Amino acid sequence: MAVIIITGVAGFVGSNLAKALLQQNHTVIGIDNFSYGAPTNIANLIEHKNFSFFEADITHTDTLKNYNGDVIVHLASQKIPRYSNALRTLDENSIMLKNVLTHCHQNKGTKLVFASTSDVYGKNPLIPYAETSDLLLGPTTVKRWAYALSKIYSEQLIIAHQSEYDLPYTIMRFFGSYGPNQNTTWWGGPQAVFIQNILEGKTLEIHGDGLQTRTFTYIDDTIQGIIKCIFEPAAHNEIFNIASEPTEEVTIKDLAFLIWKLIKGNQTEPDIKLIPYQTFGNYEDVRRRVPSIEKIKDMLNFKPNYRLEEGLLKTIAWQTQLFKAN
Ligand SMILES: NC(=O)c1ccc[n+]([C@@H]2O[C@H](COP(=O)([O-])OP(=O)(O)OC[C@H]3O[C@@H](n4cnc5c(N)ncnc54)[C@H](O)[C@@H]3O)[C@@H](O)[C@H]2O)c1
Repeated sequence: MAVIIITGVAGFVGSNLAKALLQQNHTVIGIDNFSYGAPTNIANLIEHKNFSFFEADITHTDTLKNYNGDVIVHLASQKIPRYSNALRTLDENSIMLKNVLTHCHQNKGTKLVFASTSDVYGKNPLIPYAETSDLLLGPTTVKRWAYALSKIYSEQLIIAHQSEYDLPYTIMRFFGSYGPNQNTTWWGGPQAVFIQNILEGKTLEIHGDGLQTRTFTYIDDTIQGIIKCIFEPAAHNEIFNIASEPTEEVTIKDLAFLIWKLIKGNQTEPDIKLIPYQTFGNYEDVRRRVPSIEKIKDMLNFKPNYRLEEGLLKTIAWQTQLFKAN
């Protein structure tokens, strides 16, 4: 059985990953500073004999020095600098990764499994996105690209360390993962906010014209992909998209209507307000985001099991329970 260190363990992906690894009898060392994650996400794990949790900040240089693992899954991150988070995103994401890489140098043989994002493909119009596709970002004056840029820089840094110091890695590019333990604000994605707004009886706010598309991935499928990236020898020193089938592409407007139907039924329609992009200042959106998952299917035998509606029903059930409990 392996010892896995997870940074960002109290977040959405981290808490689900820790649970799955513990179920497979691995040992998990989890670290989080609760800047975005919630203690409730790991409350059911805390007593597990193979789980150790440490509240600490990965931007501090000595946070990782006392832990040894076979693999470090680096999930802790700043995300979505839509309004004002650009500086923090650039600074903290690079500082955290440098500390993680130092840890890998000091513990030779520890493999780094890094959470990157589909946002790195930016506004490349050539879909679906394969791991070899061009990464096409907009101008540096648009804050939202700071997130993608921080992940591209991270990917390059990891690959350079592998090539110069032989540090093993796997890079994962997630496409819109959703499910239980997701953050219920915009931090958790549009599906989280739409569910929350419907439960609270609020108008659904859609950015732009709502015809931009995304491809969402239910968390159990994301976790299946991560576990293959951790353990499969074929994943060594490779980059993989972790996503649903490209046929799951949906417009944000259709997503809002589908979630409404799943919660409220067919008799009524949601009250929708379109928010122009200009409201966010100098902003650019991605018009279509569609993955190719051929590489991870071929090399790691990955197979997504959840269609959007099925995953949303499970997510709505979880979020409704949380809403009623608060
Ligand atoms: N959820 C998605 O759909 C998605 C899509 C693309 C990429 N990603 C990437 O996957 C990773 C996990 O995403 P998530 O959705 O679980 O995010 P999340 O915000 O729910 O989890 C990240 C966790 O990291 C913790 N953290 C942040 N800064 C920290 C620090 N300095 N020290 C210690 N802990 C810190 C937060 O408290 C949080 O619990 C991130 O790297 C993110 O960029 C996620």
